[in-house]
Amino acid sequence: MEVANLQRFDGSQVVFTEHLQDQIKAHEMKISMEQVPVPKDLKELVALLRQVFEHDFVNVDYVNKLIENYKSNPKDWRHYAKYDPHKYTRNLIDEGNGKYNILLLCWAESQGSSIHDHSNAHCFMKCLDGELLETKYEWPDDSEESREMKERCRNVMKKNDVCYINDSIGLHRVENTSHTRPSISLHVYIPPYLECKGFDQLTGKARTCKITFYSKFGNKVSK
Ligand SMILES: [Fe+2]
Repeated sequence: MEVANLQRFDGSQVVFTEHLQDQIKAHEMKISMEQVPVPKDLKELVALLRQVFEHDFVNVDYVNKLIENYKSNPKDWRHYAKYDPHKYTRNLIDEGNGKYNILLLCWAESQGSSIHDHSNAHCFMKCLDGELLETKYEWPDDSEESREMKERCRNVMKKNDVCYINDSIGLHRVENTSHTRPSISLHVYIPPYLECKGFDQLTGKARTCKITFYSKFGNKVSK
């Protein structure tokens, strides 16, 4: 990568062409991807994410790799894992100075989410225990007609798998399809959001869903 010697010997200013900027960016990306740390536990992952999101720029590949590098250990997250027999739970681990949220989601047997968007946020999801089925859907078109939503693909997530989605990629539903064992996932949303849209699979019609927490920092939220 020839990005050194940017200062010309005659002292004239170097013009950063688009091509050169792309080269520098690619070079920096290569270096940073090779240097993604391996968090020894969840606490360290949370601390590293805090550093990463000091800046407003989100390097999706870097964050994906960082979360992937953390290897799930129940000792780290047991404290946050709280189940509800009627619905999957969202348990807040870190508020990230208001810039992002880190959550633990607990899926009892056969529990699943609606088809939903992510309110213009980045969403990273890592399976920490059990298995999860992620089904992606196309956005419904703007017409008034009711139409069944178009499925795009399915992805079975096993322990330590990581996936990423945002609204430009599409919509998804997450399910624990097992009838015999629960599942746990770690989610990072940048920025945090209070509402999202849930979609009816058969009609494509959307409704606003409030984002609520079952527990915060290990303590159950009183209703
Ligand atoms: Fe989601």
